[in-house]
Amino acid sequence: MANSKPAKSTKKAKTPPAASAPAVDIGISERDRGTIAGALSHFLADSYTLYLKTHNFHWNVTGPMFNTLHTMFEAQYTEQWTALDEIAERIRALGFHAPGSYAEFARLASIREEPGMTAPPAWHEMVQQLVDGNEAVCRTARAALEVAVDADDAPTEDLLTQRLQTHEKYAWMLRSLLQ
Ligand SMILES: [Fe+2]
Repeated sequence: MANSKPAKSTKKAKTPPAASAPAVDIGISERDRGTIAGALSHFLADSYTLYLKTHNFHWNVTGPMFNTLHTMFEAQYTEQWTALDEIAERIRALGFHAPGSYAEFARLASIREEPGMTAPPAWHEMVQQLVDGNEAVCRTARAALEVAVDADDAPTEDLLTQRLQTHEKYAWMLRSLLQ
């Protein structure tokens, strides 16, 4: 009897608790990974909100600048859409879940949404809002970058540095339209 196998449980397997998931051992402590993932969640929420606002303005812009802005906004939201995936997947690679609902993004973002169905802002007001939005994304990226640098998280630093370059460029291009 000593060698007999234990009887199989007839109970249904439960979903394993998070603690029993395979450990993440990439050389960054769980505490630091959590802090970085939290900062990246704010960055993802701001990036998503700016993406949506840029797409909204692509749809709803009017006036003599229509063609220029409709095209410019499309180039920006298309590029931003790809970046959202990279930010969310970096959070996953650090061992945490990424926010994925409008309610979560609204709670985590520092940028206010703009409704699309009411009278849209004038084109120059749209451009000013996008300057402000890109600058807000830059500030959130810098705060997350500081956390990543402190934890020696080079891939997150690389991602945030690239996003900073892009959003600073967008802010400059948009700002130039108002001069
Ligand atoms: Fe379109």
